[in-house]
Amino acid sequence: MKIGVCYYPEHWPESRWQQDAQHMKSMGLSMVRIGEFAWSKLEPESGNYQFDWLERSIDTLQNAGLDVILGTPTATPPAWLIRQHPEMLAVDEHGRVRDFGSRRHYCFSSEPYRKECKRIVEKLAERFGNHPAVVAWQTDNEFGCHSTTISYSNAALTAFQTWCSRHYNGIEALNHAWGNVFWSMEYSSFDQIGLPVGTVTESNPAHRLAYWKFSSEQVKTFNRLQVDILRTHSPNRDIVHNFMGNFVEFDHFDVADDLDVASWDNYPLGFLTRDGTNEADQETWLRTGHPDSSSFHHDLYRACGKGRMWLMEQQPGPVNWAPYNPAPLPGMVRLWGWEAIAHGAELVSYFRYRQAPSAQEQMHSALCLPNGEEDDAAREVKILAKEIQQLINTPHESSSADLAIVFDYTGDQAARIQQPDGQHYDPLVFIQTIYSVVRQLGMQVDFISSAAAASGKQLDQYKLVMLANNTLSDQALAAKLASIDALIVMFPRTGSKTNECAIPEPLPPGAFQSILDIKVTRVESLPANIAMQTNKQNTIINWRERVESSIVANETFDDGWGFHYQNNRVHYFNGCPNRDTLLTLLTQQLANAELDPINLGRGLRLTQRGDLVWAFNYGPGDAELSNHILERFGFQPSNGFLIGQEKLHIGDVAAWKSS
Ligand code: GAL
Repeated sequence: MKIGVCYYPEHWPESRWQQDAQHMKSMGLSMVRIGEFAWSKLEPESGNYQFDWLERSIDTLQNAGLDVILGTPTATPPAWLIRQHPEMLAVDEHGRVRDFGSRRHYCFSSEPYRKECKRIVEKLAERFGNHPAVVAWQTDNEFGCHSTTISYSNAALTAFQTWCSRHYNGIEALNHAWGNVFWSMEYSSFDQIGLPVGTVTESNPAHRLAYWKFSSEQVKTFNRLQVDILRTHSPNRDIVHNFMGNFVEFDHFDVADDLDVASWDNYPLGFLTRDGTNEADQETWLRTGHPDSSSFHHDLYRACGKGRMWLMEQQPGPVNWAPYNPAPLPGMVRLWGWEAIAHGAELVSYFRYRQAPSAQEQMHSALCLPNGEEDDAAREVKILAKEIQQLINTPHESSSADLAIVFDYTGDQAARIQQPDGQHYDPLVFIQTIYSVVRQLGMQVDFISSAAAASGKQLDQYKLVMLANNTLSDQALAAKLASIDALIVMFPRTGSKTNECAIPEPLPPGAFQSILDIKVTRVESLPANIAMQTNKQNTIINWRERVESSIVANETFDDGWGFHYQNNRVHYFNGCPNRDTLLTLLTQQLANAELDPINLGRGLRLTQRGDLVWAFNYGPGDAELSNHILERFGFQPSNGFLIGQEKLHIGDVAAWKSS
């Protein structure tokens, strides 16, 4: 378990490096990420490699007792390279070139750019691959950030046409798969295929889903290209990429398959305005972040990394990129750190060591002020570092979850491509709400990809399995679900599309009809101000389905539509419950699965890993760990607390060893 920081030696005079390194060490840090945006300093002109300064900075960090995560600089191709290869720039949906002057100005499909990346990564890996202080590599930086996953360049067009010709057995097969006979959209050759953009009205959903899959694969192969070089020249180092929060623009399971660890960047206050949190809650969690936002991502990325997860960038204070940027409540920097560790992070690394006085992020706080003095976060990081040393002396334990949520990036995409018009239904927000509710009910959660769920034995260990963004009709997953003993809860839209974004022939939930005899014959989406009540006072918002079945529904709406279909251990909820209803329904389901739900309230959260238990108080007021809670989580009065106590102010943490 390590604490780290992101550092930019190229921003500061060399005479300052040693002092910085010693200061980091004295704060209890042991890992430093560097280099990920430094291309213009590493190669100021084509072929002129200037690596000595980087070597000296790595040596300086090493001499202070710090290890290094070296970033490949491919998120920031320098100006000379863009002038050499202007065709490598991405193109937006309006046909505008996304020009030089910030970052991520490249198209994943550009072959000349891939060649340039290979070259610089190879040079760096040859030079630093065996440096003893370089213990890990980060590929690029935040794939997809600033809406860069999808590009509409000529390079992307050509690559997409080739992709289509590989994926479909002839143009007729593609026409058939996409339903192109509709509106005379048929092609007679692959080179007639365009990009799903700029059409008069919406383009074909099949076309869009195919383009999403293609773009996701471009990210994967772009990353893979770097990983292969790093593995060759830098053996026995962890290779990671820093993924983003609330981001589903490519299949992260797929990209992470080539990595050793999935790392991610956590900005809990910045995320509040981006993750579907309503206005009242944005106010409530203004200085703490949403109580379930960080842990949702920790758990999801732990799954992407097959058990290994790092937090590469952690918010230290106000950020610069949200509509407003409040300061965290005192204590939150420490709390977020502990929470990451409790959810399995092997590294918690802060963004960044020292606030930059110039350029785009000058208003973004850091551990130190622009003048080098410590800022508030530094004080909390020092406390965290000390506590970790005292507490974590055992090897890291794996998760002890009894509940799994199957997560499918393609399914998320298939649901958001065409809703129809259900603008308030966001599959990611919905699954985050489900997660939040089960966390409020005291559960530990594992995510699992649909592919892993369908293939191996992973699902066998859970008592409850939930499906909320499995929009695709998935035969293999349905067969697996039929074979396990867990209680299964499916939410609306499960199995409602084929792989080509069409309605499956047996009607939704498609392949999942094999585990529950229901057929969805009508769907409706609802405006934000309309809620529908069942005869058991449960409330459905956004989306509702009419089901035909031999099974009698457990509840009904006034208009005769049923709600909640069940066959033994398999349940289907054919409407989106609001948060309160989810709380009621899932309390029942958790009890049915013998998972002993306990309502912790709005902002108290408990996390268990191995025999350690943590309590985190996000507020909105003080919280008290009742005897009931303490007993439920194995507290032994004779052992007492390792950290904290029963009473928790907002931002407080408590921890104990469970019996
Ligand atoms: C991340 C990014 C960093 C920095 C940070 C600011 O998205 O990886 O380079 O920009 O945001 O919050």
